[in-house]
Amino acid sequence: MLKGKNILLGVCGGIAAYKAVEVASSLRKKGAHVDVIMTDAATKFVTPLTFQEITGNPVSFSMWEKVHTWNVEHIALAKKADLILIAPATANIVGKIASGIADDMLSTTLMASTAPIFLAPAMNTNMYNNPIFQHNLKLLQDIAHYNIIPATTGHLACGNAGIGRFPDPADIIEIIEKFLGQKKDLIGKNILITAGGTREPIDPVRYIGNRSSGKMGYALAEEAARRGAKVTLISGQTSLTVSSSIELIKIETAKQMQQYVEEKFTDSDIIIMAAAVADYCVSKVAEQKIKKAANNFTINLVKNPDILLNLGNKKNPGQILVGFAAETQNLIEYAQEKLKRKNLDMIIANDVSKSNAGFNSDTNIVKIITKNKSVEDIPLMKKTTLAGIILDKIQVMENS
Ligand code: C5P
Repeated sequence: MLKGKNILLGVCGGIAAYKAVEVASSLRKKGAHVDVIMTDAATKFVTPLTFQEITGNPVSFSMWEKVHTWNVEHIALAKKADLILIAPATANIVGKIASGIADDMLSTTLMASTAPIFLAPAMNTNMYNNPIFQHNLKLLQDIAHYNIIPATTGHLACGNAGIGRFPDPADIIEIIEKFLGQKKDLIGKNILITAGGTREPIDPVRYIGNRSSGKMGYALAEEAARRGAKVTLISGQTSLTVSSSIELIKIETAKQMQQYVEEKFTDSDIIIMAAAVADYCVSKVAEQKIKKAANNFTINLVKNPDILLNLGNKKNPGQILVGFAAETQNLIEYAQEKLKRKNLDMIIANDVSKSNAGFNSDTNIVKIITKNKSVEDIPLMKKTTLAGIILDKIQVMENS
């Protein structure tokens, strides 16, 4: 993954600067070409000569002292980088970037770069928790090509223990390798995903719900966004969060979900209905809390719209429609019937009676069934891994 890549390592002035030497060394051992820019403060902790020897390249640390033969050094370094890693990133550099300040070699190069930028902040716990620093960090997190590698918790150089520790260099390398190895095959695609369970109100305090955690739909949304798609996630109640690049619409009932799905449907290339939508809702929701009275209590339920069925009926030729089927028996047979009746291109069938599969689990065991009648067994795996496989199959289908 790192072989032949141009990595620009920005080193700031914190005690963790010495750990950046190990990062530079690992990057080089893995075949990357490493250029280093040090801030003035960083040179007080580690000498530029150390990084020069480790990387085999001259180290930049001043706008006014040329170390390369290029004409405009900061622009050349910014252009050359496939990825920029700032490790350690101090509160100072984070604040500077967030404020648009470019007053030294590192901050100026960052300003001139369009490459993905990873920051590994490391500092004293109080500095890390400082609301101004957190505000600046959040600001960068919301910018598409900035990625934050969170600090870890542990013993700090200042003698305190807490958050602010520089992550293990091996973990930093792993994050970067994973990023560089990622497919970007969904750029230009609009993907609509539903996730989580709906809640159908009975009265102002009670509802009918289900055990869906939303984990499968959220994993699909994250993976699709990582691969470059523009993702809209329409979600029932969950405790999960998503990256800021995903448009998240929170709903409660099936009818609310239908409203937003219909709104987004026409512009979507791929639609994945991973939500556990309630088949029925209460015919008349009580305006006031229902009081305990008789021994028996009956609620009259009426059928909810089948969102997926409606989409299947009006699907355009280029659109790919994917459904889920959670079953406890006759898995393939029921799923195939659903695929046909709802006019789907693909259905992901899971036997929710199995342990480690289906609702609320981090893992799943599924069968991927397509409209050309192929049935593929997918063994037990994490929902995050399965999300990648589902998107791969959709891509194959789209390109065939
Ligand atoms: O028919 P069944 O509910 O088992 O089908 C499951 C699939 O249909 C899932 O993809 C689910 O998100 C979708 N569905 C729907 N609207 C409903 C019920 C289910 O879109 N009312």
